[in-house]
Amino acid sequence: MLDLLIHNATLPDGRTGMSVTVQDGRITQVEPGLMAPAHSVVDAQGQLLSPPFVDAHFHMDATLSYGLPRVNQSGTLLEGIALWGELKPHLTQEALVERALAYCDWAVAKGLLAVRSHVDVCDPRLLAVEALLEVKRRVAPYLDLQLVAFPQDGVLRDPQAMDKLQRALAMGVDVVGGIPHFERTMADGALSVKLLCELAAAQGKLVDMHCDESDDPMSRHIETLAFETQRLGLHGRVTGSHCTSMHSMDNYYVSKLLPLIAEAGVSIVSNPLINITLQGRSDSYPKRRGMTRVPELLAAGVNVAFGHDCVMDPWYSLGSGDMLEVASMGLHVAQMTSQSAMRQCFDAVTTNAARILHLDGYGLEVGCHADLVLLQAGDPIEALRLRATRLMVWRRGQLVAQTPAAVTQLQIAGRPTSTNLRHFGH
Ligand code: FE2
Repeated sequence: MLDLLIHNATLPDGRTGMSVTVQDGRITQVEPGLMAPAHSVVDAQGQLLSPPFVDAHFHMDATLSYGLPRVNQSGTLLEGIALWGELKPHLTQEALVERALAYCDWAVAKGLLAVRSHVDVCDPRLLAVEALLEVKRRVAPYLDLQLVAFPQDGVLRDPQAMDKLQRALAMGVDVVGGIPHFERTMADGALSVKLLCELAAAQGKLVDMHCDESDDPMSRHIETLAFETQRLGLHGRVTGSHCTSMHSMDNYYVSKLLPLIAEAGVSIVSNPLINITLQGRSDSYPKRRGMTRVPELLAAGVNVAFGHDCVMDPWYSLGSGDMLEVASMGLHVAQMTSQSAMRQCFDAVTTNAARILHLDGYGLEVGCHADLVLLQAGDPIEALRLRATRLMVWRRGQLVAQTPAAVTQLQIAGRPTSTNLRHFGH
């Protein structure tokens, strides 16, 4: 007997009336109209069954610390970094673990089952590294947590940072991070990219750098990152995160830059909620949006994901682990309103992000992990429009979260008695 049968599901690619069977944590069949005995049988009622959401860029060491020790008055990236510096000496491992576990609960509730989190390695105690490695171990049964060694204070600007970063990698952190735009000079920024890529190549690690998170059109470290990726043969293993300066770059320069990024196989992560909030702060009007050129990158053949980046921390006071909110903001800011572009926005928080994390067994194919989300929506576009309720979330075929359908009881004479905002006849 099967462990799980989900039938009458709509898949993200548009197939309807589909059945998905699960045995021993893996998808065993994806066929139309299949019925078979199973320990658990779920009628999807034509709703969308998707692989889980994946967040390709987050900071789990800072999450849920909003207001500690104070709030960010200017709303800028730089005050956020200073505020984090004030908080760091007061962090305890217990508090870090508790906040991160609470966030992972939120994530699972929202069908978010894989997160790449940067972890600050510029603390001699490496407290956050120890805490998040512990969290990674504890959440492993229900969430994939991938960690990036992130030198928040600059790997060259902080003279001990390279040593601490290498200690973090030795402790089990998965990915090499960086922050070239925060180094003291453009030359140091470029040197930091070179050194960190060489380190990753030597140790067989993936790379994910915060890259050009500013409105300065001359911040061009993504170019160096793509060049170093090619030079060291790291194709498909490197990600540039944020890349907000590209919003303000000269169009001719970008016409050369995009093919370089594509040829190098460098992925880009845009963080729409945070970029639209932190960038453009020194502008009057017109005020720049500060989000990288997502549709143009996609058109050039670059793999692009949307990340959440922050939830209730020194940089951002809102958020709930909802990747549909992230994708919806990206859709609006980038004006990705065509049918195909809206579907690309859904991909940016599912399949594209999974590719960045090199997630093993992700997807809706036979043989993939049975990690699934049933949404109260008919298709990915409706899921985005409604930030659809995650009715059921499975990890390796086991139900890990369930949320009642959102249905409003109407009390209006002459009108239907309920509405769920879905399926207005076209
Ligand atoms: Fe970030």
